[in-house]
Amino acid sequence: MPKVIAIYPGSFDPPTNGHLDLIERGSKIFDELVVAILRNAEKAPLFSVTERVGMLESLTSHYSNVRVDTFDGLTVEYAARVGASSLLRGIRALTDYEYELQMALMNRKLRPELETIFMMPAEKYSYLSSRLVREVAQLGGSVKGLVPELVEQNLRGKLDPAYQFGEFRDGEHAGKKKPRTRKRA
Ligand code: PNS
Repeated sequence: MPKVIAIYPGSFDPPTNGHLDLIERGSKIFDELVVAILRNAEKAPLFSVTERVGMLESLTSHYSNVRVDTFDGLTVEYAARVGASSLLRGIRALTDYEYELQMALMNRKLRPELETIFMMPAEKYSYLSSRLVREVAQLGGSVKGLVPELVEQNLRGKLDPAYQFGEFRDGEHAGKKKPRTRKRA
C-alpha cells in the first residue's frame, strides 16, 4: 500500500493546543503528516517563521511521522511537491465551515487529486484561535491551558516586561503605562 502523506497547512501564529490536538489526531490516521507553515510576506506576524518552526518542531518531536516545513505560493502546489494526497484542516464551530468549504472546493478545483480532510479538535478547544490567543496575551489575559507552556513562555518574551499576562486584575494597573508588545522579530 502506498504511503499516505498529508499536509496540515496554516499560519500557526502561535501554535495553540487546538493545533496540537489536530496534529495528534492526524498523526494517527496518516502515514506522514507535514505541518506546513505559510510564509506570508504580506502579514506582520507576531512570531517569525523561524520562531514558529522552532516551536512546532519541539512540540512535535515525539511523533516519528510528523515533520515541520514552510511554504509559500499555492498550497496545492506545495502538496504536489511533497507528494501529499491529503490536506488536513480543523473545523471548530459552524462559523469555520463556510470559509473552509470555500477553500476546500477551490483547492479541489485547482488539484482534484488532493483530498481535504476535516477533523474536529477536542470540544474544550472549540473556541480557540491563534488570533484570540495573541489578543488576550497582548492585553494581559492568561492563556494558560490554551497554548503549550513553551508557547506561553515565548509569548511572555514578546510582551513588555512591565506587563506580564495573567497578572493584571481590575483596577490593579490603574495609572500604569499601557502595555505594549516588543518590536516584532
Ligand atoms: O491558519 P490559517 O491562516 O487559517 O491558514 C490558511 C492557509 C495557510 C491554509 C491558506 O491561507 C492557504 O492555503 N494559503 C496559501 C495560498 C493558497 O493556496 N490560497 C488558495 C487557497 S483556496
